[in-house]
Amino acid sequence: MDHPVGPVPDSVRSPAQRLLTLALVLAGAIAGAEPQASLSFQRSGQRVAELTGAQISTRVAPQTVTFFDPHAGKTKSYRCWPIKSLMDAMYGPGWDATEYSEAILTALDGYASVSVAAKLAEPGGCMAFEDLDVPGWEPIGRRKANPGPYYLVWTGANQGTEHEYPWPWQLVSINLVKLEERYPEVLPRGAAPGSSAARGFAIFKGRCLRCHAINQQGGKVGPDLNAPQSVTSYRTKAWITGYVRQPSKYRYTAMPDHLDLKTSDLDDIYDYLVLKRAQPEKTPR
Ligand code: HEC
Repeated sequence: MDHPVGPVPDSVRSPAQRLLTLALVLAGAIAGAEPQASLSFQRSGQRVAELTGAQISTRVAPQTVTFFDPHAGKTKSYRCWPIKSLMDAMYGPGWDATEYSEAILTALDGYASVSVAAKLAEPGGCMAFEDLDVPGWEPIGRRKANPGPYYLVWTGANQGTEHEYPWPWQLVSINLVKLEERYPEVLPRGAAPGSSAARGFAIFKGRCLRCHAINQQGGKVGPDLNAPQSVTSYRTKAWITGYVRQPSKYRYTAMPDHLDLKTSDLDDIYDYLVLKRAQPEKTPR
């Protein structure tokens, strides 16, 4: 299971970790507004850059934002770096259009918020490094966590965690990964490169995974197609391929037609689903 996107339950943070954060924040207050703590930027876990707050500010112009922060429960003002500019500066422009389509944002205690990387290219996101209302940081959330040294906020009305915008606090790293790294359970294990199951996986990854999960990993708009049972164990091949090509013929449904898929593409998707039938979920709900 991937971690839910959203605020971190600080019940999992130890007093030592809170103290460490406090120390980092105090150090930041002495040296200037920017925290001394460094923020790490990675791709598939490999470091791309690691900078302190002051170093980041030499590359990305800070802004001030004032908005209703739902985690603080009140209107707040922060100094922050716009997240798109920050990502552009660290990964180079165009980072949001690569196969590294997923972002894993990890907090001081190892808690990870997972998000679609393209969300971080949207306006409204800002990486807060200073609370302008109080010295240090005002605690947030039900458990009054200290959000520093870095806290990603979104100022838009529809940019809450319920719309899958990540709001990690006590952030230490951003790691851009490929979809299959975020969802290892969907991989066609054992399929030879170029085999029909491998080709089917490529189509599935590009067109189906955003709505359908395999073994509880993936989108939640449509049903999981492998757990608890593979769709291939209770539907015929003819039904599945016919349905995937044109669901609108059968039902009024949120699933789009895929009229451009060739018969061979549909066969490949089917073969991928059959392969996954032999690779059931490890931990049923
Ligand atoms: C926009 C979201 C969306 C996309 C994209 C999508 N689906 Fe679906 N799919 C759904 C929803 C919702 C359902 C369930 C309700 C329904 O059938 O209307 C569904 C149902 C199905 C079913 C039928 C399950 C059953 O037993 O009734 C299959 C099979 C399926 N999808 C496969 C695929 C495949 C393969 C792709 C990619 C080529 C795909 N879907 C793309 C949303 C989507």
